[in-house]
Amino acid sequence: MKILVIGSGGREHALGWKLTQQTDPIAKVPHELFFAPGNPGCEALGQRLEIEVTDTQGLLLFAEKENIDLTIVGPEVPLALGIVDLFQKHQLTVFGPTKAGAQLESSKDYAKTLMQKAHIPTAGYVFCDNAEFALQALTQFSPPYVIKQDGLAAGKGVTIAPDRQTAKIAIEESFAKDMPVIIEEFLQGEELSILAICDGKRAIPMMSAQDFKKVGEGNTGPNTGGMGAYAPVPFVTSELLATVQTEVLNPMIKALINEGIDFRGVLYAGLMISPEGQPNVVEFNVRFGDPETQVVLPLLEDDLAHILLQAAEGDLAPYEVIGFKFKPSQSAVTVVLTSEGYPGPYTTGFPITVPETLPENTLIFHAGTKKTPEQTLVSNGGRVVNVTGLGDSIESARQKAYALAEQVCFDNKFCRLDIAKSVTEKAKQLV
Ligand code: AMP
Ligand code: GLY
Repeated sequence: MKILVIGSGGREHALGWKLTQQTDPIAKVPHELFFAPGNPGCEALGQRLEIEVTDTQGLLLFAEKENIDLTIVGPEVPLALGIVDLFQKHQLTVFGPTKAGAQLESSKDYAKTLMQKAHIPTAGYVFCDNAEFALQALTQFSPPYVIKQDGLAAGKGVTIAPDRQTAKIAIEESFAKDMPVIIEEFLQGEELSILAICDGKRAIPMMSAQDFKKVGEGNTGPNTGGMGAYAPVPFVTSELLATVQTEVLNPMIKALINEGIDFRGVLYAGLMISPEGQPNVVEFNVRFGDPETQVVLPLLEDDLAHILLQAAEGDLAPYEVIGFKFKPSQSAVTVVLTSEGYPGPYTTGFPITVPETLPENTLIFHAGTKKTPEQTLVSNGGRVVNVTGLGDSIESARQKAYALAEQVCFDNKFCRLDIAKSVTEKAKQLV
């Protein structure tokens, strides 16, 4: 198959890497990959195109000219722009939801309203379209206050405010950008990401993963796009997964069908599991998580291209009963190496050195990297490089990831040192 991957982050590098690990099951030849625009890590896997993710017409022209068999949309922005509607109109096979489906991520108000209609457990909330109303609405809540900008904000649009003054600043900042806010109840518990692949009729979950969103150790400081992740999550029992399926995934697919939406893509449920083991939805995303993808895909045994093609064609029936197959007794940990200062201001352009041969059971996925005209690899973003370790336990995967993190060098390098560290203790607390 000729496959076009749209996006340029660690997630897209991981998608491309997984696609090259598996060959076309019938023709037994490798897939031919294109990345728009990809990153330097993708160069060994396929051809990079100078087309930005927002240039939906340019992407369409390319896909038509090259007879692309399957397009996989990585980030949320082109989905919210309606790239899937455009490709479908031109009879191209594309993995991702339509613009209507993408509202589940692009509008928190839309998502909350739909969740309420479908009786999906989630925090109570108030939608506020002006700052004065928002300040008044705060009185209905108790601290910590959860203030969310109602729009795409690359994981950084949420403030957990310990007091009214901090909440007020967050509200004012959002309205200064013309973004309404929602204020919602603070949920306690353990976060969990379930990435379900949907074909319009059913949602089949991938392996559970946990993401570390805060920049600082011990989950402190501002939210980021994600500082690391691991999979599988030890406290996820088959009972909990069944509850997520019946209380969250199935009702959302049904609600989308009722809205006339044929949702083919990733339904990413960001959950908070209460101390009693009850899942509450924090948010839905409509694409693969980053960095969850960097831990989930290395553990997947099934053929990724086949899964995504079947989903895009509306027929995941072959996987419905058995689910997707993952490597038994294997874990993965990803640590994100960032530019110091992220998610605030930071400096880039520093040369990056990477070991020539990677240690066994490790992987590197590029994110914010670029090559200079002299072909030097340099940092070029907040999240720069992902290092992934694989092992027969989370601890061994973690050690591999951190050993590799030390071998990837650039000025201003920062990473959290506690990714997946307290997993075992947390799991014990929940049992
Ligand atoms: P979101 O963009 O909605 O996923 O929020 C980003 C992060 O903020 C989540 O992953 C949580 O860590 C935190 N968060 C969001 N909503 C809540 C909530 N209602 N209660 C507690 N934490 C939350
Ligand atoms: N890892 C969080 C996200 O992809 O939104």
